[in-house]
Amino acid sequence: MRISNFSNFNAVSFGTNTRRYKVGPENDVVYTQTKINREDIDFKNLVGLIFGSFKDKDKVSVYDMACSDGSEAYTLAIFLKEFLKDKKVAKFFPIIASDSDGIIITCAKRNKINITEDELKELEKAGIDYKKYFLPAKEKMYIPNDKISNDTETYMCCDELKKNIRFENCTILQQIEKMEKDEPKVVLCRNVLPYLGNRSDVLYNLLRLNNKMKQDDILVIGDFDRDFYIIDFLKKRDFKEIQNNVFVKTK
Ligand SMILES: C[S@@+](CC[C@H](N)C(=O)[O-])C[C@H]1O[C@@H](n2cnc3c(N)ncnc32)[C@H](O)[C@@H]1O
Repeated sequence: MRISNFSNFNAVSFGTNTRRYKVGPENDVVYTQTKINREDIDFKNLVGLIFGSFKDKDKVSVYDMACSDGSEAYTLAIFLKEFLKDKKVAKFFPIIASDSDGIIITCAKRNKINITEDELKELEKAGIDYKKYFLPAKEKMYIPNDKISNDTETYMCCDELKKNIRFENCTILQQIEKMEKDEPKVVLCRNVLPYLGNRSDVLYNLLRLNNKMKQDDILVIGDFDRDFYIIDFLKKRDFKEIQNNVFVKTK
């Protein structure tokens, strides 16, 4: 069984940092990438939306499944802290960030992250002083199976940020098993679905996830996940797209 659109992925198309790893039932080798403030989500709008949707709740579980090196979880935590400064955001923490790749999660748990100059510039453009969150590490971190660009430096996450994220090494299905249907939740499951195998493998993961989601819960996907059958599945299960790649369960 081959990953359905596996041939679409190759290292060259990504440009900057890439990671090589094995996915799916046949252990296909693919190249992948993540980054801080990835452009397929308007994170500033997302945090406002999350806050508004759960303003009456005391605790909200936030899951970042297939989190890779933590870039996405850090982005969400930083945007929650920066753009909802005067609001009560502690109920969203810690973000539970998980990935099936043990090597990348080991690095994330050491609170180190490789960041490019462009990513830092993007944070600055958003009005964020990144130095509050990331400090240059003494040594560059070389991760097996990673190819990093020359403008990449290794940073340490500051204590204030690292306490907002809990990294776990598990698959999407294992993470779903640990979710409670009744807890109000936000689930990021982004830029990973086509890696899960063929169409029935992907739909199986989505079915299991849907079983744990209830009205008002939020699901966030990525541009890479926007295959027509995935969007169709979500629409048929009462997920309404309220912002690009952000879906709320309406029933
Ligand atoms: C392209 S990265 C996505 C990172 C981040 N979510 C983003 O959008 O930038 C894909 C990640 O999915 C992870 N992954 C692949 N299959 C997985 C599975 N079954 N369970 C958990 N993580 C998985 C890989 O290890 C990789 O870190």
